[in-house]
Amino acid sequence: MPRNGLILAIESSCDETAAAIVQRGSRTLSSVVASQIATHARYGGVVPELASREHLRAIVPVVRAALQEAQVELCDLDAIAVTSGPGLAGALLVGITYAKALAYAQGLPLIAVNHLEGHIHAVLLNEREQQKVLHGSSHELDPDEAALALVVSGGHTHLYLARPAHGAWSYTLIGRTVDDAAGEAYDKVAKLLGLGYPGGPWIDALAQHGNPHAVPFSFSQIKTKIHLGGKPPRTKAARTAPIANLDPHFLFSFSGIKTAVLRYVELHNLRPEADARRETLFTGPDAPAKPTIEDALATADPQTLDLIASFQHAVVGDLLRKTFAAQQALGATRILVTGGVAANRELRARFTTEAARRNLHVAFPTLSLSTDNAAMIAAAAWPRLQAGEFAPSTLSAAPSLALGL
Ligand code: KG4
Ligand code: ZN
Repeated sequence: MPRNGLILAIESSCDETAAAIVQRGSRTLSSVVASQIATHARYGGVVPELASREHLRAIVPVVRAALQEAQVELCDLDAIAVTSGPGLAGALLVGITYAKALAYAQGLPLIAVNHLEGHIHAVLLNEREQQKVLHGSSHELDPDEAALALVVSGGHTHLYLARPAHGAWSYTLIGRTVDDAAGEAYDKVAKLLGLGYPGGPWIDALAQHGNPHAVPFSFSQIKTKIHLGGKPPRTKAARTAPIANLDPHFLFSFSGIKTAVLRYVELHNLRPEADARRETLFTGPDAPAKPTIEDALATADPQTLDLIASFQHAVVGDLLRKTFAAQQALGATRILVTGGVAANRELRARFTTEAARRNLHVAFPTLSLSTDNAAMIAAAAWPRLQAGEFAPSTLSAAPSLALGL
């Protein structure tokens, strides 16, 4: 049985190097995140080679800071947890290699965590912390209850039925995107409008100033594509699991709306002058390190703000409709929404209102636990530590690792 229930977790699957120490999956002693946003921003997206190099630079100081902040010595730990996939191969390998070496040197067990499972446990960690529960229980749901989890980030838009099983939780994939992830659509639309990277927070902020009903994006533009005949989807984001056996009502598609936004921009000639100003603000050689919302607002005309608000309204509406339809069809007793896009204000507000209308419980992680972090990886590792489910010493990166097939 673990002595202190202390897990040091390492996360390096994409563009954040993170380390955290969490006790018994319910008490965060430290959570350190070194973001590479500044490195990738000028390219408008994550450059894998640069990501690996930045992880190499950051991993030692980030782990050291996590131990220091938690006031924990390596010898106090019960296990080392690490994200093994999905993610960028080179980026994952930095975290895995470091975690393996540390576990070996300290004689500690190594626990491999799926990044998507980590996002789901971010919500559970949050709830446990709020309830100040510290009694070693691995869950708050009854074993016969199930939660519907929407993981919505830059790489994923997946719906799972999550159940507290003995030891690790069990997951059943219910739906997912057949092309772009929702966060990817946010980032691409932001890029084509000349906004900064990542685009989600900019669109979130600017959408508050536009009319969400101004541009009627119809749902034929976000409709599902069920005609792949079981073949793997073409895009990177959707490759992690087959879609053949999934109910088409719970499939998402976000590449259509990105094209619709582009058409609208071209048709209404929205770009030229504003774009030049946004370029100066976000990508130009003299761009400020941290542009403010007011700066961005000053570059956007009312029509662009209406377009941004309408894009967001359509995406959130689609996520909402399919998530609640799946919850109802499967009889899940509660809904968990997690991943970077779960930080979105309109998403939180509309999911909360809809859940209240249906007398359901919906939960989100705090903003810092919504985007990538290592506390969520430590939380997901806790039931595995209790069950003695450890990774082999041959553990390697699994860039396309799926959850709940
Ligand atoms: O979970 P995450 O940090 O990394 C992945 O696993 O992908 O999610 C990052 C994604 C990006 O696409 C970013 O634009 C989006 O989350 N995002 C948001 C918001 N904050 C981050 N999207 C909409 N609204 C936000 N407030
Ligand atoms: Zn993530």
